[in-house]
Amino acid sequence: MLNPRILVVSSANMDVAAYTYRTPVAGQTVIGDTYDFIPGGKGANAAITLSRLGGDSVFCAKLGHDPNGTALMKFYDTSGIDTRFISLDRNEKTGLAIIIVETNGNNRIIVYPGANFKLSVSNVEDAFTCYPDALFLHLEIPVETVIAATQFAKDQGIPIFIDAGPATKEFPLEELAVVEVFSPNETETQVFTGVNPTTPEMCVKACMALANRIKAKYYVIKLGERGAFLYDGKFYKMLAPYDVDVVDTTAAGDAFTAALTLEYMRSGDIKRACEYANIVGSLTVSKAGASPSLPTAAEVKRFVIENEINFKL
Ligand code: RIB
Repeated sequence: MLNPRILVVSSANMDVAAYTYRTPVAGQTVIGDTYDFIPGGKGANAAITLSRLGGDSVFCAKLGHDPNGTALMKFYDTSGIDTRFISLDRNEKTGLAIIIVETNGNNRIIVYPGANFKLSVSNVEDAFTCYPDALFLHLEIPVETVIAATQFAKDQGIPIFIDAGPATKEFPLEELAVVEVFSPNETETQVFTGVNPTTPEMCVKACMALANRIKAKYYVIKLGERGAFLYDGKFYKMLAPYDVDVVDTTAAGDAFTAALTLEYMRSGDIKRACEYANIVGSLTVSKAGASPSLPTAAEVKRFVIENEINFKL
């Protein structure tokens, strides 16, 4: 499919990113390096990645009626995404994420969902009138909305892609329709299965445990600096990441799964989609902040040429 329309049903947050050489322990104060207010939210990061990579990206989300909501909407209006299904909740604050980024690029995030938790089943039903070719979800919105979205996608016969963050033990994965790709990171895998995916064998074990909870054609575990692990129920493949200086890992997972979705929808080739996602994920960690770090198709092309990567664009 040349230009698939991908409906992202997920979260929108304002991120407060605080950069520090060390995360304080309880009772300690450390002086940080700098901070910034940056458009983020797992869903917005994915929707913008799809658009920057040349996809037809429709974003269904909920903002609060406040200055952060206004700032985010202004930003989305210039981001190339279809904003028709972003609505406002007059009684809730816009979602906010507090992100601590250490010098090595690692992050710790607390999310205050606010309006994200008001994204309703009927909001999603409306968004399906855009006739999407695929559905993309995170779990940063109400459980019933996620479940209903998978049912709408099943009814329309379109594939479902789930980036499984944030994970909670209680999330009823069993109630979701069958998905095309289910993609948690290491921490999320451990929360859902109790298995720490440290080795390929442990990754297989984790995927088998996931398969007992949610049926997917492919399971793709994002392993951070170790790359990604692909499992199709029979065979597995480890995909190595590219060598870049890590500045900030925020949004790398969102960008990875969005890129995977787009390339899979275009080519139908899951291995190629994972390789493309690895390139996009590597580029994302090399810049600071959520939305500012999401690469464009031109940046991906330049990276492939400069690093002599064997990937035909
Ligand atoms: O995945 C990164 C994102 O998680 C941040 O942008 C933050 O808003 C949270 O949703």
